[in-house]
Amino acid sequence: MAENKAAGYKNDYIIQVNHLTKLYGAANRTEASRMMKEGRSKEEVLRETGVTVALWDVSFKVKRGEVFVIIGLSGSGKSTVIRTLNMLNRPTAGQILFEDSAIDTFGKKDLNEYRRDKISMVFQSFGLMSHRDVLGNVVYGLEIKGLARVERERKAMEMLDMVGLKGYEHASIASLSGGMRQRVGIARALANDPEVLLMDEPFSALDPLVRKDMQFELLSLQRKLEKTVVFITHDINEAFKLGDTVAIMRDGRLIQVGTPEEMSASPADDYVREFIDSADKTKVLCARHVMLTPCVVRETDSPDYALREMKNGGVSSAYVVDRHMKFLGIVNVEAAIRARKERKSLKEVYVTDVATTAADTVISDILPVAAEAKYPIAVLENDGSLVGIVSKASVLSSLM
Ligand SMILES: Nc1ncnc2c1ncn2[C@@H]1O[C@H](COP(=O)(O)OP(=O)(O)OP(=O)(O)O)[C@@H](O)[C@H]1O
Ligand SMILES: [Mg+2]
Repeated sequence: MAENKAAGYKNDYIIQVNHLTKLYGAANRTEASRMMKEGRSKEEVLRETGVTVALWDVSFKVKRGEVFVIIGLSGSGKSTVIRTLNMLNRPTAGQILFEDSAIDTFGKKDLNEYRRDKISMVFQSFGLMSHRDVLGNVVYGLEIKGLARVERERKAMEMLDMVGLKGYEHASIASLSGGMRQRVGIARALANDPEVLLMDEPFSALDPLVRKDMQFELLSLQRKLEKTVVFITHDINEAFKLGDTVAIMRDGRLIQVGTPEEMSASPADDYVREFIDSADKTKVLCARHVMLTPCVVRETDSPDYALREMKNGGVSSAYVVDRHMKFLGIVNVEAAIRARKERKSLKEVYVTDVATTAADTVISDILPVAAEAKYPIAVLENDGSLVGIVSKASVLSSLM
């Protein structure tokens, strides 16, 4: 393995896809190809020849250690591409190099080795075996590899720990939530210690909050393990959040490849622009989406009570409200200690010139304020009641 890695560094690119084409329908391929070369559309080709153009002349390179995201509308060819990377789909034409070996020329033995050692896939539908428990699913690939039981279980437990499933090793798959199932899928894929992880819309069946957690965890895992990831999504936000490089597909063709910044700065055409605009619309994350629960005290509470609450919450400031939860100000530890010593009430020591924001304010407007503010910003409803707080950290982590 080490030898391979060292050899690979001679070449920055772990995967190179050259002029990949995949046509479905055996009859009129020559005619279909001729039409495609003339620049006719996928629909026209299908109508006139009965051939479905799943991929047409697709070329791209994946750098070692990067997250390469493929995005496009349904039917644009994303799954077809990723499934050619492990030869689940055989291309009609073109070449795929993995560390300079042409995998489309591999015989059965080489292909098996390649799938076992180099590349693992995580599916949208999880693809777990329901008759095996969590551990049984994760050890599966290691069994095939022929690892001894003790060794494979040790490795599997390590992976389960890494994806946050310690303690669930003997749970049944049926008892797990969607997010947990996908963690099992990821642990199973990682257990083989592949160089490349292929992920075909792995998070699209998950609810938005779980999805956000999983995106974050995938990024931390990927950085820690330095794996190369090829990731498919139809969600531009997910693509931009995860991707070092993003490739956008339409009707079997690759339209643009670049970093998220390059793509936002100069979209290749209207199709790309529309995708990016849809990101801007949905990117309207508000204070409400990222706020945390503050330590709350009433203005009539004693300084002692406020100090205890702050201590319990492990924080150094409390948010002061009236009986109707209307926000009044902030009292910090120092002020509360002073009040206790001088036998004052909280009312006399809390500060009022602090930053507040409406619950519906978008993150981009909060960021500059959060960066400057001494305390986390109080989030208020229209009637002035306190509903949460946002810190600089909570805003920034929501954008990751
Ligand atoms: N086995 C097959 N036989 C015939 N046509 C196929 C087959 N598999 C895929 N196609 C066609 O190839 C094209 C690309 O399909 P693909 O599954 O790669 O799209 P996708 O981008 O992954 O879409 P989705 O977002 O819906 O998963 C589509 O037009 C599809 O109908
Ligand atoms: Mg697909």
